Amino acid sequence: MKRVLVTGGAGFIGSNFIRYALQQYPDWEMVNFDKLTYAGNLANLRDVEDHPNYRFVRGDISDQTLVDYLFQTEAFDTVINFAAESHVDRSILDATPFIQTNVQGVQVLLQCAQRLWMDRQALKPEFEHARFIQISTDEVYGTLKDGYFSDTSPLQPNSPYAASKASGDLLCRAFFQTYHFPVIITRACNNYGPYQFPEKLIPLMIYRALNNQSLPVYGDGTNVREWLHVEDHCRAIDLVQEKGELGEVYNIGSSQEMRNIQVVELILDKLNKPASLIEFVKDRLGHDHRYALDWSKLDKLGYQPRYDFQQHGLPSTIDWYLQNESWVEGVTTSEYQSYYQLQYAGVKS
Ligand code: NAD
Ligand code: TYD
Repeated sequence: MKRVLVTGGAGFIGSNFIRYALQQYPDWEMVNFDKLTYAGNLANLRDVEDHPNYRFVRGDISDQTLVDYLFQTEAFDTVINFAAESHVDRSILDATPFIQTNVQGVQVLLQCAQRLWMDRQALKPEFEHARFIQISTDEVYGTLKDGYFSDTSPLQPNSPYAASKASGDLLCRAFFQTYHFPVIITRACNNYGPYQFPEKLIPLMIYRALNNQSLPVYGDGTNVREWLHVEDHCRAIDLVQEKGELGEVYNIGSSQEMRNIQVVELILDKLNKPASLIEFVKDRLGHDHRYALDWSKLDKLGYQPRYDFQQHGLPSTIDWYLQNESWVEGVTTSEYQSYYQLQYAGVKS
């Protein structure tokens, strides 16, 4: 029996992971601890909310009193930290919540887990298998022209979001070096799939194309991202929590790179919508040109992504959004529309 704390489980990747783990591990007891920010949505977990091995607790990972109480009463032996402010554009508008959650929140989680699990530099016998998995991002490495980021590439974050994630990662590293705290960091490339909030490229473009609205492509659309289906990401995290080495970093890639404009064209094509919907707008400030990962270390653990982006991953994701109109309606609230106005006002180039 594992007692697992999943933070940020009401978001895109966390909710997919909870669904995956409930199927995979009947002997896990999971608590989903989530602040329910604009990105957190319990409707993402409607189908599993009554599962006997799952519970939801609302709270903020930077709330030391509450988090410490939760660790002491629940005696978690595994933490998978998905909780984060996760959108680059929002971090450019205001970095404050990014520092609070992605830096201070990580420090609180580390400290509360350490207090429960360790005596000085040693794990208490009842927590000898304890693991803290920090879910991070390729964006901490900065931007690439050629080649790939390996897990030892320097951290050169360019956005406030990436800087906050890099800071969280460095705290994890420091806890390993200083206390032998049992932490593993994963750094994944861009995810896509069901339940992604329509502020990120793929769901935003699907949502707007379906409504015959313009599709705002930043700059000239030649920026490159590596696309990972969220189910492949969940399987990789599972592999790392099971077989990964403490103190290590694991890049989680897919080797499926694509220019943004190609992604947008594929979406239009699948939805039978005209290319005239594409609108090139002012570039994102500090826009990273390309991310691409060397994930050979994960390959050695036995990982292979199953989804081919173009053949299966993207079309099935578009189908999901077509079949889940009420979910989309539920998240495209007036708050969402206000964000869109704020973010995209004045970006026409
Ligand atoms: P998301 O924005 O969809 O979800 C984040 C969740 O965290 C939400 O449910 C939100 O309510 C919750 N949250 C935010 N602040 C919190 C706080 N202070 N306390 C508790 N809960 C809080 O994000 P996502 O896309 O699911 O990303 C999950 C993790 O994966 C993040 O750490 C992100 O950095 C990382 N990641 C994401 C991608 C991607 O492409 N989406 C790629 C690589 C890594
Ligand atoms: P995004 O989904 O925000 O992920 P990230 O910035 O973390 O990679 O953006 C993916 C790419 O798409 C990125 O190069 C920015 C671009 N983009 C647009 O061109 N238009 C948009 O409206 C958005 C949200 C993103």
